[in-house]
Amino acid sequence: MDAHATNAYSGEIFDLWDTYKKVVVKDLMFHAALSADVERALRARFQGGDFSLLDLGCGDAQVFAPILRRIPPASYKGVDLSDTALALAAENLKSLPCPVQLEHGDMLSALSGSETYDVIHSSFVLHHLATEDKAEFFRRAARALAPRGVLLLVDTMREENETRADYLKHYFEWIEKDWETLSRAEKDAVYEHVSTSDYPEPLSLLERQAREAGLTRLAADIPHRWHHLMRFVRA
Ligand SMILES: C[S@@+](CC[C@H](N)C(=O)[O-])C[C@H]1O[C@@H](n2cnc3c(N)ncnc32)[C@H](O)[C@@H]1O
Repeated sequence: MDAHATNAYSGEIFDLWDTYKKVVVKDLMFHAALSADVERALRARFQGGDFSLLDLGCGDAQVFAPILRRIPPASYKGVDLSDTALALAAENLKSLPCPVQLEHGDMLSALSGSETYDVIHSSFVLHHLATEDKAEFFRRAARALAPRGVLLLVDTMREENETRADYLKHYFEWIEKDWETLSRAEKDAVYEHVSTSDYPEPLSLLERQAREAGLTRLAADIPHRWHHLMRFVRA
């Protein structure tokens, strides 16, 4: 296990935001397929919508907003460390037919209250937390899930036999080969960000942490390289 002190995320991805938008638009990290997986998971559990939703590390909500327009929640709360992201999220979510609350804050703190949610969603955020904080995330998420609730976790995960160093090497080799639409400078900025801020875990570790927190993983989705959707319900 890779030891590191605490949340490796510095709080502002926004020097990289234009590059991240390019990655999303060109679908380099499989956002389209993962979004379809998320929409399917929501429909499987809530058919017409009408669920309370907490979105941790919502960013600008650009990817999630169209799904939520098709299957509207009863309420949406988004939490992020970046005010810039939250301002963009307000714009992207303004046509949702439900109350929208956006809060500046940390994902763990957002789970420390007594409120419960039918859906807790977090996409490409958990890998920023230290290993022990990820375990705390699952404990808090289990407490904050309503009885029929579901936790939808989209994130990068390393292969079972990959150390973090292996993962970085393989991930960067893949970017070098397949992310043709990014310039040299953009790729280098991604490498810098991922090397300093990303601590993906093997799926089995996350599954164990979730199980110990009282969550059961629903049947596996098909991964898109290192990019997964994991779905959990209360045991
Ligand atoms: C890669 S972006 C993902 C945005 C969006 N969820 C998506 O899938 O497109 C990661 C987001 O997580 C936020 N973030 C990182 N660490 C966080 C934390 N500990 N608590 C809340 N937000 C966090 C960042 O500010 C950023 O907006």
